[in-house]
Amino acid sequence: LHVSLIGAPTDIGAGARGASMGPEALRVANIVEILKGQGLDVLDSGNLFGPANPWLPPVNGYRHLFEVAAWNQSVHDAVYHELQSGRLPILMGGDHCLGIGSISAVARHCRDIGKKLRIIWLDAHADFNTNTLTPSGNVHGMPVACLCGYGPPELTGIGGHTPAISSTWVKQIGIRSVDLGEKHLVYQEGLDVFDMRFIDEVGMRGTMQAALADLDEDTHLHVSFDVDFLDAELAPGVGTTVLGGPTYREAQLCMEMIADTGLMASLDIVELNPALDVRNQTAHVAVDLVGSLFGKSTLMRRPQRIAG
Ligand code: ARG
Ligand code: MN
Ligand code: MN
Ligand code: MN
Repeated sequence: LHVSLIGAPTDIGAGARGASMGPEALRVANIVEILKGQGLDVLDSGNLFGPANPWLPPVNGYRHLFEVAAWNQSVHDAVYHELQSGRLPILMGGDHCLGIGSISAVARHCRDIGKKLRIIWLDAHADFNTNTLTPSGNVHGMPVACLCGYGPPELTGIGGHTPAISSTWVKQIGIRSVDLGEKHLVYQEGLDVFDMRFIDEVGMRGTMQAALADLDEDTHLHVSFDVDFLDAELAPGVGTTVLGGPTYREAQLCMEMIADTGLMASLDIVELNPALDVRNQTAHVAVDLVGSLFGKSTLMRRPQRIAG
């Protein structure tokens, strides 16, 4: 399996500065060495370039729309290029607005080759705001809505097809913070949200069984891992911590069950904010969990399908 790391050092869509340092913190936490140690062929393709963060107030309900679009265009191009070359892209953000570029590229690739796309969205937040619903104007609260066609053409059109995805392809896990207007749109769209209450009641095993239920051999599974998915005590290095997230064990099981499908074919690791972290703890936890996403397990397991 050929894996390509793509760094996107920006915090252009976030409400706190610092996610721009995420790619380097993941490298310092040995993401390359750990994945290589698991037998993967890993290529670190370095960092993308993009506009600086001007740190301005929202215009028309968006902060930094022009810069957000520029970053997402280069993320789209890089992710699409890796997929076309037959490699599995790992986008290292950067904030979660970059999910627009990444997932619109994945959706384009799936249209090209006639694959079914499913997206596992690991997050404390639904990221389903629009410019009229958002309390902040931060575009990292809007990527799922943009991908589903609710957003400005600068963002909804990046993958060459609007909407880039259907809301029915998205399964959200770990959600525990949704804004009031956002809640209505999530409901209206019928998004499949496995929130913390669902995980409390059903457990992580039953949650992931439900979330992974409609996959088949022809599915491209994309995982969008917002590090604030994790409980805030475990993962302090994020800009928008929310209490009451999955524990270390629950997160491990979640990752292992995704790995067991053998279908993960692209990944985002976003919202890691080293400026708020404690001795790079959150980066180490994230890399450890990514190891599990790529099949690290305590015992030998068989048989496993290989993503293609
Ligand atoms: N819902 C809040 C907002 O729209 C927070 C979003 C946080 N998103 C994230 N990717 N961390 O501003
Ligand atoms: Mn989040
Ligand atoms: Mn998010
Ligand atoms: Mn492929």
